[in-house]
Amino acid sequence: MTLILGIETSCDETATAVVRDGRTVLAEHVASQIDLHARFGGVIPEVASRSHLEAIFPLLEDSLREAGVTLADLDAIAVTNTPGLIGCLLVGVNAAKGLSMASGKPIIGINHVHAHIYGALMDDLETRGVDATDGIEWPLVSLVVSGGHTSLYESTAPDAHRLVGRTIDDAAGEAYDKVSAVLGLGYPGGPVLDKLAAQGNGKAYDFPRSRPGAQRRRQGTATGGAGAGHFDFSFSGLKTSVLYAVRGQDGGRGKPLRKHAPPRPDIVPADVAASFQAAVVDVLSDRLMEAADVLGAAGLVVCGGVAANSGLRARVTAEAEARGLPLYLPPMRLATDNAVMIAGLGHHALLAGRVDDLALDAAPRAD
Ligand code: KG4
Ligand code: ZN
Repeated sequence: MTLILGIETSCDETATAVVRDGRTVLAEHVASQIDLHARFGGVIPEVASRSHLEAIFPLLEDSLREAGVTLADLDAIAVTNTPGLIGCLLVGVNAAKGLSMASGKPIIGINHVHAHIYGALMDDLETRGVDATDGIEWPLVSLVVSGGHTSLYESTAPDAHRLVGRTIDDAAGEAYDKVSAVLGLGYPGGPVLDKLAAQGNGKAYDFPRSRPGAQRRRQGTATGGAGAGHFDFSFSGLKTSVLYAVRGQDGGRGKPLRKHAPPRPDIVPADVAASFQAAVVDVLSDRLMEAADVLGAAGLVVCGGVAANSGLRARVTAEAEARGLPLYLPPMRLATDNAVMIAGLGHHALLAGRVDDLALDAAPRAD
């Protein structure tokens, strides 16, 4: 049995959790900073780290109390140390070091993106009462799609993930946030556009579906290989197309985005939202399924903040069913940033003997 305290502070959510055996959640707490950053239209790193600093210790106390455990009961303290905003990561890492010094318990540095993948499995593991190592059929093909990441991995174990594709420009969530700004709909853009898209016509605009890496894919398939860059994404062309559709051909050059509601009276925001979402969902789902077929996946994972998107969930659910593959989609509370997934993955790191010490560093980029 393992008992792990998880700490997450990589972006704009301060989160703590206590998890048993990598799947049973004894306590979980999240303090979101969305309201703090909304008026700036995005996350301001310095504001974020200061807010983490204020929130982290009360949250830690809440989680330990709710779980009914003390530091002495823990087997390890797992903390996100990469990737993320460096000032934010340091708050979590230093809090973990302080707790480690006070208790003598080991620290485990956790990769936030790998934890998102693990978080998608946790509800299923808990329901079936199995461990991820032998309770899941590997390999999985995992799509991590959030405000900071849009990446595809071949996952062969809970903590073994090979990058086979990533965005070459914006993340999908970032595109949602920017399109929302163009339409004057505020931050974060994902939830509001998702809702609006349900009332619009997804065929009103023919927005581009970029497919970077097509040549590499052809070559790779010819040689039977699939490596990094094989299933890349690009969202900047789509974002620019939306801007031109809403603002006219010069894109409203020079005007700050969020201060301007759509200037053209003929624009139906719901149609723009629906057509934009249709393009994003097409690209994400097609690339995931292509990777699953090429890599011989035994299952699929879709995780990160954009995994909350209703259009994406419906599409990948239907595609997975058609292929007869299990699909692991996190519930809402585990789709966005949380510490449950950090503590969960910490269980596997501990079992593998991969523990860190007070020399643990934070790194803004993971690879
Ligand atoms: O994983 P997350 O909480 O934070 C990181 O970026 O790591 O993801 C936040 C992102 C934001 O860009 C937000 O707009 C997007 O996820 N998002 C959505 C939806 N809910 C949140 N995007 C599309 N549809 C949604 N329903
Ligand atoms: Zn995240």
